[in-house]
Amino acid sequence: MRYFRKKIESMLGYIPGEQMPGVRVVKLNTNENPYPPSPTVTAMLRNIDSECLRRYPDPFSGRVRRAVSRVFGVPEDWVIVGNGSDEILSILLRACCEPRRAAAYAMPTYVLYRTLAEIQGARYIEVPYDEDYRLPVEGLIAARGALTIVCSPNSPSGTPVFHEDLERLSASVAGLLVVDEAYVDFAEENALELVESNKNIIILRTLSKGYSLAGLRLGFGIAQPPIIENLMKIKDSYNVDALSCLIGAAAIEDQTYKEETAERVKASRKNLSATLENLGFRVWPSQANFVLTRPPMGDAERIYLALKAKGILVRYFKQPRLEDKLRITVGTEEENSTLIQALTRLTAVG
Ligand SMILES: Cc1ncc(COP(=O)(O)O)c(C=O)c1O
Repeated sequence: MRYFRKKIESMLGYIPGEQMPGVRVVKLNTNENPYPPSPTVTAMLRNIDSECLRRYPDPFSGRVRRAVSRVFGVPEDWVIVGNGSDEILSILLRACCEPRRAAAYAMPTYVLYRTLAEIQGARYIEVPYDEDYRLPVEGLIAARGALTIVCSPNSPSGTPVFHEDLERLSASVAGLLVVDEAYVDFAEENALELVESNKNIIILRTLSKGYSLAGLRLGFGIAQPPIIENLMKIKDSYNVDALSCLIGAAAIEDQTYKEETAERVKASRKNLSATLENLGFRVWPSQANFVLTRPPMGDAERIYLALKAKGILVRYFKQPRLEDKLRITVGTEEENSTLIQALTRLTAVG
């Protein structure tokens, strides 16, 4: 007898970006924030009493829900907290999809959507983005997914999705509409206000990017209570540990710090995009903390490998539509100029 379901044996599995713990690299491959977490978080970490670990944590992460409620002006029962927003995506796929209930999303996007559908044994429908990454709204409606996922700003393109497109989708899809806002802290718009007027929308946020807490593993979803109640049935009983709950709530409360660092990232994104364009790279207009870019000769894999050999990590996806492009996280000004110096040499003609 097989140990595993056929689907599991045949699937590739999600391949995360290289992490290289302990090795000093210029790390521009997994969209972490280049600045440290809020000083409130650092202060809190110094004063943690280990007694808070003796008992199980709050199964509903009440502290985080209250912080989200205060900061974003939604009732607590509109919030679900997860071990990263990845966990909430996983819960959504398990809750909504099966072989005859498909997940639909535009491609290229966050590869995990497909991985989660595969794990679930669900059908997935991938609708192509055009070259400019305008959301293929009609294609997504025609896909008739039980779950439609929109990533805004999208990864790896950094392009945002307009409210009018989300409203049209929400009104036209039969199932749930997930707006994955992992990078929204660096964007000009967000879909929070749509949750109030659309009973089938859930937005997902993470502390991994805007709050500089990728190592903490904390994310949350906001939707109307009937959605939250059903998702709660699926999550692990104690899905968020006591420390993450404590620290995450403090980070969410410090919006001023998050906004300050986001402004710095946005300013660096502008410089980095302009410099890349001067070097002859095509750059897609990004509202995230990374840029998608095509080197002048389209030799993205060669450049990725050459940068890696110099201790500079960027993201290369060997998949259709992306083989000639790189996704580069916006780093500190110093990291960005190290990258630019290397790219200048690597793309010099002759
Ligand atoms: C589009 C998108 N959604 C969700 C996530 C997951 O974030 P988290 O760290 O909260 O699991 C990522 C992480 O890279 C992402 O790129």
